[in-house]
Amino acid sequence: MFRVFVLALAGLPALLRAATPGELSPRANYLLNCGGCHGLNGVSNSRLVPDLKDQVGFFLNLAEGRRYVVRLPNVAFSMTTDEALTGLLNYVVFTLGGAEVPKGARPYTVREVSELRRSPLTEVSLVQTRQAMVRILIDQYHATTGLRLYGEGNYGSSQ
Ligand code: HEC
Repeated sequence: MFRVFVLALAGLPALLRAATPGELSPRANYLLNCGGCHGLNGVSNSRLVPDLKDQVGFFLNLAEGRRYVVRLPNVAFSMTTDEALTGLLNYVVFTLGGAEVPKGARPYTVREVSELRRSPLTEVSLVQTRQAMVRILIDQYHATTGLRLYGEGNYGSSQ
């Protein structure tokens, strides 16, 4: 019995290695860590969870927006290594974000992500922080007014 058990475990390290999130593709990591809320392709309930598809790239117009993406608690505290989170975020911003990333925007580096996720936005109102940026993005960077959908009517109303 014992021998069978040992044999059964023999393949386990290899399996665990294969299942380490850091070794999954950025899309697989996105699906595991973010997809439940943000949807398979970056769209779920737009009023309760902001759309990422064709939208998230606008934040990279602002230095604060670039940091915001990494410092969001759901991002900073995700169960990912710094390397995996960097790949995941570049997938989210440059692939799901589509054409909305400003020209010349650099991909996130592991070092940048590693530093930023260590100062998560836990001391500020996320809603207000976001609203201020969204106003600037729409007024000055011609961002889609779809950015205003999130939060619309979901605080204390029947929607
Ligand atoms: C529990 C649900 C949930 C999970 C899980 C989640 N998010 Fe979010 N996400 C939100 C909500 C709600 C917001 C709006 C700001 C806030 O309250 O965090 C948001 C905001 C964002 C934004 C900013 C978009 C905008 O328009 O303001 C980005 C980028 C983002 N999430 C990416 C991710 C990534 C990447 C992951 C996975 C590592 C992730 N999120 C996991 C719910 C979630």
